[in-house]
Order: sequence, then structure tokens, then C-alpha cells
Amino acid sequence: MSDEARRAAAIIRERIGSQRPRVGIVLGSGLGTFADRIEDAIAFDYAELPGFLVPTVAGHAGRLVVGRVGATELACLQGRVHLYEGHSARAVLPLVRTLQCLGCETFVATNAAGALDTDAIPGSLMLIVDHINMQGTNPLIGANDESFGPRFPAMTGAYDSGLADLLRTCARELGIGLREGVYMALSGPCFETPAEIRAFARLGANAVGMSTVPEVIVARHCGMRVAAVSVLTNLGAGLADEELSHAQTLHFSSLAAGDLQRLLEAFLARLD
Ligand code: HPA
Repeated sequence: MSDEARRAAAIIRERIGSQRPRVGIVLGSGLGTFADRIEDAIAFDYAELPGFLVPTVAGHAGRLVVGRVGATELACLQGRVHLYEGHSARAVLPLVRTLQCLGCETFVATNAAGALDTDAIPGSLMLIVDHINMQGTNPLIGANDESFGPRFPAMTGAYDSGLADLLRTCARELGIGLREGVYMALSGPCFETPAEIRAFARLGANAVGMSTVPEVIVARHCGMRVAAVSVLTNLGAGLADEELSHAQTLHFSSLAAGDLQRLLEAFLARLD
């Protein structure tokens, strides 16, 4: 797995010349258009990169794009694999570790999520300040590669407080509402039941989704600073009088894509 990441990074380095991405970004469901903002873009299909599995879900392109947004060099993962696609939790290891091998020190995750706070408006953004892993598995299960990180990594402060502050400042200056909360990751692919949503709210979650936590665990394990933002595409099951669907997720994530794009651009411009 780790060898795959090093080989993938070598393939990428060969084609990106003098570019040195410092930030790795994962674009979640329906949020892939951010990659269109990348200048001097060089794209790699996941199929070209060792260990990269091609996502099978609508809204996830399966491309890694290296380039610049403003003065910041970055590598963007346009799409990710999810546990519900049937892969082992370890499937995210090569994606995230390739970013680290390329020299990315900062990892930014975005996703679509269901809100558990009933005053959240679909299409609004939530800064993730912590997570609860309810996927029943972990990408670090199995042999540990000490060259990336320790056997038992700490997850306290997983979401970097300095990066969170910068996102808050950028959102305030842009007039973009940014809620905050705890993201709970579930395996999917079912949306939750109303009883599950009530239970998860009591457990301390503010949003639920089917991604991000595996990538964040791998990124923290190998020492990257992490920031993460959810697009709240709906209220959790039973909190509103509507049937949940992936079409709704894509609709509201594309509505919020403009805000998220402006927020990320401002954030990247001020990152040290
Ligand atoms: N539940 C789980 N994942 C999601 C949801 C949800 O309500 N909305 C978008 N992704």
C-alpha cells in the first residue's frame, strides 16, 4: 500500500515539472467543479496511478489534478472511494499517502452531509471540528508502515485549530455562513433511519455522512495538518418531511459549490 503511494507520487512528479503541491484537497460529492479553478492544471486519471481505485458513484470523477490556485500549489483529489462501494477501509491509504509523498503538509477534506441540527439550511456549510467514527472499521487496521506514522496515532486535535480559525476568518470576511460541529461517519449506503438520526444527535453528532473520516485518519497518521468542511445537503432522516436521495445530495452540493469555492480560494490565498 505505502509502496503504491510512493510509486504513484513518482509518476506524478515526472509530469508536473517544478510544481510542488503543498496542499492536498479532496472534493466530495458534487463539489468537483473546484478543480476547474486550478491553473496550470495537470490531470491524472486514477486508473493511471498505482493503488488508486476508480470511484463508481455519480458526482465523483476519479482524477487527481495538480496545479495552482492563486499562488498556492496544490493537488486535488476529484472523487474518492467509499466503504459502501465494497472496498476495504484501506483503499484510501494510497490516495492520501500519495499527497503526503508529493510534499503536501496540509490536507483539506470536503464532503456532502446530512444535518442533525434542525435549524441548518440545506446548502449551508459546516466546519468540522471533530469526528465520530461509526463505520465499524479503520483504514489503519492491518500492518503498520512505520515510515508513515505510529501504530497508535492520537486523534486529539485531529482538526487543526489554526486552519479552523483561518476558515472562520475567511467565511466571516466573505459573508458566508459557516456552522461548526462534529461529523459522524457511517458506512452507508443506506441513508439513516429516523431512530438512528435521533440516537446520533444524542451521541453528539451535528452531521452524518459516508466519507472523510478514513481520509482524515490516514492524513493525521502521516502527520498532515487537517481541515474539513461539510456541505449540508439535507436534514437527517425524519427531521424534515422529505425522502432522502443522492439526487438531492448532488443538487444541494452544487448549489453550495460556489460558496465553498470562494471559501477555499480565500483560505488557500492566506495559508502559510
Ligand atoms: N446521511 C448520510 N450521508 C449523507 C446525507 C445523509 O443524510 N446527506 C448527504 N450525505
